[in-house]
Amino acid sequence: MKKDLVHPLYVRLFHWLNAAAIVMMVMSGWKIYNASPIFEGIAFPEALTLGDWLGGALQWHFAAMWLFVVNLIVYLVTGIATGHFREKMFPVSPVAVINDVGQALRGKLAHDSHDYNAVQRVFYIGVIGAMLMTLISGLVVWKSAQFQLLSWIVGSYDTARIVHFAGMTLICAFIVVHLALVAIVPSTFIPMITGWAKPFPKKEKNHVA
Ligand code: HEM
Repeated sequence: MKKDLVHPLYVRLFHWLNAAAIVMMVMSGWKIYNASPIFEGIAFPEALTLGDWLGGALQWHFAAMWLFVVNLIVYLVTGIATGHFREKMFPVSPVAVINDVGQALRGKLAHDSHDYNAVQRVFYIGVIGAMLMTLISGLVVWKSAQFQLLSWIVGSYDTARIVHFAGMTLICAFIVVHLALVAIVPSTFIPMITGWAKPFPKKEKNHVA
């Protein structure tokens, strides 16, 4: 059967490099956080951290940061230039989201890699926003004197740390929901590796794929 290219190569490359960078940044970030927690009583299990000691965790965090930033910029620029975001993530309206949440609760939401539903659109736009929020606040935590304008936008060093933590939390929450959705609709997984998917059957448009 003829298949359609649903995820171009640059999207797949971005996606898997980004997943690797995020795992390294979150795990090393937890080690750095544990060395100087912001919230009393909140510490991350050492077994889930990366880097043997604080200096090692910082090295992991900064190494993965370059992969994360360069990869994200290439994805955003290419996605805007090729119309990828305009075609696959917009438009999205509150009415469409409410409608699709209702369909999902009744087990009738279509999950089509050719055409993301409104819930997916909101999630993907949201996680891209969370990544930018974490990146900007991270730059302020790292070099607040050099990134004066960003420091002015985010606030003090302490505020930037809280914003950075909140961004990390949103990304982790996204990953939990994202992986649950992939587990519920496993047919979406292989196309994110190969790029190709079977044409979406029109008659099943209102049923979970
Ligand atoms: C091992 C972990 C992951 C798996 C198995 C996975 C799987 C997938 C799959 C199957 C899709 C395509 C969904 C569809 O066609 O309906 C997708 C899309 C996407 N995922 Fe993931 N994902 C993972 C980690 C992540 C992480 C860590 C992020 C970001 C923090 C992320 C962000 C995205 C985004 C933004 C898209 C939409 C890409 C686009 O079309 O431009 N994913 N993921």
